Amino acid sequence: MLLLIIGITAITLHFGIPLAYFLIIRKYLSLPWNLKIKEDYNPHVTVIIPTYNESKYIIEKLNDLVKQKYPKDKLKIIVVDSASTDGTPGLVKEWINKNKHLDVALLVELERRGMIHALNYALDHVDFSKTDLIVFTDADSFWGENTLKAIAKYFSDPRVGAVTASITTTYNESIEVTYRNYYNTIRIGESKIHSTPVHNGALVAFRSKLLERIGRLPNYTGNNDSTPASLIAFMGYRAIQIPEALVREPVKTRGEFFRKIRRAQHLILHFLYTKKYALIKGLYKGRSRFDTIWKIEFYLNVINPWLLLLGSIFFFYALGNISIILLTTILLLTVIALGNKTLRTWVTYQIILSYAQLRNLKTKELVWQKT
Ligand code: GDD
Ligand code: MN
Repeated sequence: MLLLIIGITAITLHFGIPLAYFLIIRKYLSLPWNLKIKEDYNPHVTVIIPTYNESKYIIEKLNDLVKQKYPKDKLKIIVVDSASTDGTPGLVKEWINKNKHLDVALLVELERRGMIHALNYALDHVDFSKTDLIVFTDADSFWGENTLKAIAKYFSDPRVGAVTASITTTYNESIEVTYRNYYNTIRIGESKIHSTPVHNGALVAFRSKLLERIGRLPNYTGNNDSTPASLIAFMGYRAIQIPEALVREPVKTRGEFFRKIRRAQHLILHFLYTKKYALIKGLYKGRSRFDTIWKIEFYLNVINPWLLLLGSIFFFYALGNISIILLTTILLLTVIALGNKTLRTWVTYQIILSYAQLRNLKTKELVWQKT
């Protein structure tokens, strides 16, 4: 009986806490940003694209960037390649020769040591006094033509340190649709309150002098988005996700599951170590509302997934001791409930988060297989 009660309590908390958080956060969506934003703010931007075997996307990516409605004399692009074996650097060189009027540079590492290593190499070549913003973007992510403008204008308020876009599956999604997605709602709601600890590497922009203050990108998480953005939030600046900048990632069929696991691994490492890193490096500038958000997200990503797993084990173990008929019925009901797509997606991701923690003990996937 005790096992049954523990099981049911754990499962109830597992679903109840994120749901309650979602319902609370949703209320903040309609709040103002509490920022002074100048609509026609066009700072100098350096966009850095890391590439490893991106011959399929890199040309489309460069063309996509050039389509941005943004003053070309304020835009610098750096492609940093790490020993691609599919001719990516050659394609970039060719493209640069055809587009001499644009400021595009290619950097090449002769050995592949991961995305973070490559980005740090690129940052070594950036003149921080000449660029206001540094943007990281993946080769396989595509922006709407107003995306950069939408991102840049938020930096007209000096309290903003990092801005990330919202991910969509179609280009012309409206803000309404963006809000409806569970994670976008949470990220944008947290951003309205102060900052969100999870940013999207598909497009993440930083105030360059803050990135300079952080020093080189830390390599303990493997990500180039959530970790620097959260360090900036711990420094007291806003690190936000905005709804009107949308980026699209092509849907991949192969390898998507392993990609999810790797990204979950990086997210877990982020929650385990980033606050400590901020403290050690003297970047932490005292308590803010971001600390509360950080604690809740830490709980949701690191602890809450285990409640589902352990709760279910207790629950079914206890039921098995009581009656086999009841056990079969409940198992059947569970299977039927999992026919619901939202529930299935949620449960799968919880298992991925738990598995990611275990896998981190073996390998941290700081250099990963291309999917
Ligand atoms: N130069 C270089 N060297 N680039 C690399 C390397 C490398 O060793 N490994 C990956 N990249 C490039 C890819 O070519 C791509 O442009 C970008 O980094 C992201 O890598 P993907 O393989 O496409 O992974 P993803 O789509 O799951 O990307 C995300 O995961 C990371 C965290 O796990 C991104 O959103 C990252 O920004 C994020 O930090
Ligand atoms: Mn990708």
